[in-house]
Amino acid sequence: MPAALFSPLHIGPYRLKHRVVMAPLTRMRADKATLAPRPLNVEYYAQRATPGGLIIAEASPVLPTGTGSPNVPGIYSEAQVAGWKRVVDAVHAKGGVIFLQLWHVGRVSHSSFQPGGALPVAPSAIAIGDDLKAMTADGKLAAYEMPRALETDEIPALVAAYGQAARNAIAAGFDGVEVHGANGYLIEQFLQSRSNQRTDRYGGGIENRCRFLLEVTQAVIAACGADKVGVRLSPYGIANGSGEADPMPLYTYAIEALNKLGIAYLHLIEPRSSGAGRADVNWQNVPSAIALFRPIWKGVLIGAGGFTGEPAEAAVAGGQADAIAFGRYFISNPDLPARLQHGWPLTPYNRPTFYGGEEKGYTDYPVYQEMAKA
Ligand SMILES: Cc1cc2nc3c(=O)[nH]c(=O)nc-3n(C[C@H](O)[C@H](O)[C@H](O)COP(=O)(O)O)c2cc1C
Repeated sequence: MPAALFSPLHIGPYRLKHRVVMAPLTRMRADKATLAPRPLNVEYYAQRATPGGLIIAEASPVLPTGTGSPNVPGIYSEAQVAGWKRVVDAVHAKGGVIFLQLWHVGRVSHSSFQPGGALPVAPSAIAIGDDLKAMTADGKLAAYEMPRALETDEIPALVAAYGQAARNAIAAGFDGVEVHGANGYLIEQFLQSRSNQRTDRYGGGIENRCRFLLEVTQAVIAACGADKVGVRLSPYGIANGSGEADPMPLYTYAIEALNKLGIAYLHLIEPRSSGAGRADVNWQNVPSAIALFRPIWKGVLIGAGGFTGEPAEAAVAGGQADAIAFGRYFISNPDLPARLQHGWPLTPYNRPTFYGGEEKGYTDYPVYQEMAKA
């Protein structure tokens, strides 16, 4: 019996009954016309809700410019707020706690997604390399385009969009929001020198490169209160053309600055599974983010990336993390907390059905007790 994983945990104002968190997972199955969650999405989240269990709902663009994949649900329109409310209500009906991840992809987009066919925006006009491909609005692959560097005076409106998105999430009933500062998207593009060559107060030294993350976090805090805000980072990650040459000073500064903001939690992705959406194994023999940054972060720490039950129990029992988020195994095991608690076997995930489609690979994974009866 994994005792540490199944002990209670306070996150912000919430008392979780266990520490098996559902990681944010883009599944590209929103309503095509409105980009709002639809009944299929309600069923998927309800299947994965448990009393006192935390779900971090999938990355949701804060603006139409913030998307880079088809059929991803947003959090900037009334229809989207209404759609998310149905998801939240279903999770609450099962006693679950649900946060929404706030997203802007920056340069990880394509002009086919952008209003008026404009170029995607980014801190600097630096394209993602040819080894990776962009997705187009009709789901094809294309070379990444050179993004347009944001003007300094455009940045406050972007920061404000995160604040508005947080208000929208609270209006939909979410218990809180997670700022997506990981995986090579806009915030991480500002953090890292390979994607940020700005010469204004948002670029250059570490303090300047962390400014966008911290302003966004503060705007979101102003919208819903620090105790309802989490931040996700991926130090040492390599997803979507990211990768800081020397992550330790950058992320030490960022995490120390976040310590002062009193947020509900910090969520760190282990570099071994950076970019898990694209490949099963990314790197071997890389440092552990939770081991490196646990001594620096003063609050609740969620670790994610490549965990199964025993290592998760060991990480929580050993104090390296307070909770563990599971991605791929939460896709294929809707009853993952019960399986880990009882030591039941895990259903393997089917990668081709991760992104897009209908119920196959989404709501049709069985729970263990039904499988055992059959
Ligand atoms: C299909 C898929 C979609 C993902 N979408 C997101 C996302 O929306 N936001 C995010 O921060 N991470 C996303 N990730 C990363 C996961 O949250 C998680 O960090 C990663 O899968 C490693 O955890 P795991 O080994 O338990 O799967 C995604 C991963 C997968 C496989």
